[in-house]
Amino acid sequence: MPFRPLEDVACLLARRLEGPERNTDSVLTLILADAELEPVPQAIAGHPAVRTSAKRRGRSPTTMLLDSSLHHPALKRFPEGERRGRPDIAHLFTLLCLDSVINGQGQLRTIIHTRNDDVIRLAAETRIPKNYPRFVGLMEDLFQKGAVPEGQPLITLERGVTLETLLSGCPSPRWAFAETGERVNLWPELAALEGDLTAVVGGFPHGDFRSPVARLCDRVVSIHEEPLRAWTVTSEILVAYRQRSAPPTADPT
Ligand SMILES: C[S@@+](CC[C@H](N)C(=O)[O-])C[C@H]1O[C@@H](n2cnc3c(N)ncnc32)[C@H](O)[C@@H]1O
Repeated sequence: MPFRPLEDVACLLARRLEGPERNTDSVLTLILADAELEPVPQAIAGHPAVRTSAKRRGRSPTTMLLDSSLHHPALKRFPEGERRGRPDIAHLFTLLCLDSVINGQGQLRTIIHTRNDDVIRLAAETRIPKNYPRFVGLMEDLFQKGAVPEGQPLITLERGVTLETLLSGCPSPRWAFAETGERVNLWPELAALEGDLTAVVGGFPHGDFRSPVARLCDRVVSIHEEPLRAWTVTSEILVAYRQRSAPPTADPT
């Protein structure tokens, strides 16, 4: 399904008019870091797999998002090609964050940091398209224009911001989440935390963070003995942070 700017902008603005509930409680800053979200690199723009999908979509190759499900043959011999082109991870991350209860309460900041040091900030009011092709269209528009929707942007893109620079402006403590981190039970760990938290989750399918998270964060924690998907870790953090001062009971809240 093609990206329909007017319809999607109307959808984005609807939330702004309703407005989220606001409160002055502590804030969770959730960062999807080193995310594999980027336009098609010039170096593979001429590859037949890229040219075919560009023709099908009626776009020039470098204005499309790199997507491993379409451009896999072009990524085979490309540096770190086995982990690149995963906009689906950013899609699930943003859907989970922006539709979360804690976001509706005005206690969440949602940020994506990409492998190319592009930083995407999403206003709490943003309504992300559930349809994946429309999300792709929205991100392609963002990479071209730097902010969407025009006039009253809810999503902005800033280029050349390293994770180190981004984190220097985020509240402490800052925790990175990794399979190889210090094993913790998230619920009591968060219950012991009084105020804000900045949580860093990797936006890539395999391997390690490209950014030096162990140096940049106060802690690197693991919440399960098995490797988890980025969106699974995101959902655990969103709920555990919200309920940290009032653990779940039998009564619905
Ligand atoms: C698919 S994983 C990347 C695989 C990588 N081996 C890892 O976990 O570091 C995506 C992200 O989910 C988070 N993650 C995965 N398993 C985790 C675990 N057991 N504990 C905490 N975070 C985890 C990390 O932030 C990771 O970067």
